[in-house]
Amino acid sequence: MAACSFTVRLERPDGAWSFSAREDEYLLYSMQDAGIEGPVICEQGWCLACAAVLVSGAVDRSAALTNYPEDAAAGFVLLCSTRPLSDLVLRQDMHETRRAMTQHRIGLNQLARAYPPGARTGFRRGRARPAEADTQ
Ligand code: FES
Repeated sequence: MAACSFTVRLERPDGAWSFSAREDEYLLYSMQDAGIEGPVICEQGWCLACAAVLVSGAVDRSAALTNYPEDAAAGFVLLCSTRPLSDLVLRQDMHETRRAMTQHRIGLNQLARAYPPGARTGFRRGRARPAEADTQ
């Protein structure tokens, strides 16, 4: 069965883009496939380089190596390890969003840019494996 695709609007201080994102692909890679570059370091959901703010829509953040409910409550998403579950509007300021998310986590005494225990080595690229929690 073919994966669903959603429309994602990404708003940045230097412009706005719309791109198609498959439900089984991390948002970062859908962006890159659409020719949109953005900040990225770990690609595992812990360095916060790819932080963005979810303005509207639903996502699955569960693949991030650091994933706190408080991130979702504050609207933060890590594009490298987040899959879309609906059409989305995202906002990202390459200078401010990462800083804001880092400060948010530090304020809660959570990992922010630290290498998390149990982190895998190497980079992952390609299709996400649907989490069991997503199967209904
Ligand atoms: S690139 Fe490190 S958290 Fe996304």
